[in-house]
Amino acid sequence: MGDYSWGQRIDTVDFDELSLLYRIAPLGNKPPGELATVFGNSMFLCFVRDGETLVGAGRVLADGVDCAYIADVAVHPDHQGRGLGSGIIRRLVDLARGHKKIILYAKPGAEAFYGELGFLRMNTAMAIWNDPDRAVGSGLLSREPR
Ligand SMILES: CC(C)(COP(=O)(O)OP(=O)(O)OC[C@H]1O[C@@H](n2cnc3c(N)ncnc32)[C@H](O)[C@@H]1OP(=O)(O)O)[C@@H](O)C(=O)NCCC(=O)NCCS
Repeated sequence: MGDYSWGQRIDTVDFDELSLLYRIAPLGNKPPGELATVFGNSMFLCFVRDGETLVGAGRVLADGVDCAYIADVAVHPDHQGRGLGSGIIRRLVDLARGHKKIILYAKPGAEAFYGELGFLRMNTAMAIWNDPDRAVGSGLLSREPR
């Protein structure tokens, strides 16, 4: 078990390293420039390091009162199963506390992870994706009427 350090500051982040973390986790291909934009526009951030190495991350896009959206939570495979993922979610939820709703969507198969952390399934969640066919194919979206 490593001796992990936890941070929230964007000026400590190497976005090439963050992009690599998401590819390895895996959570997809997220180019460094896009990550700089989305993390820069997020109200709350969480980074976990093992020494100098970034091993976990997540962020919250929030309006300060009503709605907070947790995104981009991932842990390096070498460090998964040690409580880092749940630690990131707990910290982000604490930072976003006070918002009327804290929402997220799980990668298909990861729903139980969030259920254990207190998240309930949203019955009426709907979304417009820029690539809906891919999202339907991966199980994220459904065209089925409820
Ligand atoms: C999902 C993820 C963030 C979890 O991080 P982690 O550090 O491994 O999680 P933790 O060690 O805190 O695990 C907490 C609990 O959740 C469980 N869990 C972890 N990943 C899970 C998953 N995908 N589905 C269901 N349960 C999961 C663990 O078994 C553990 O249970 P336990 O307390 O009974 O042992 C990590 O596996 C990851 O980065 N996966 C790839 C990217 C991804 O799927 N991100 C989430 C997108 S929605």
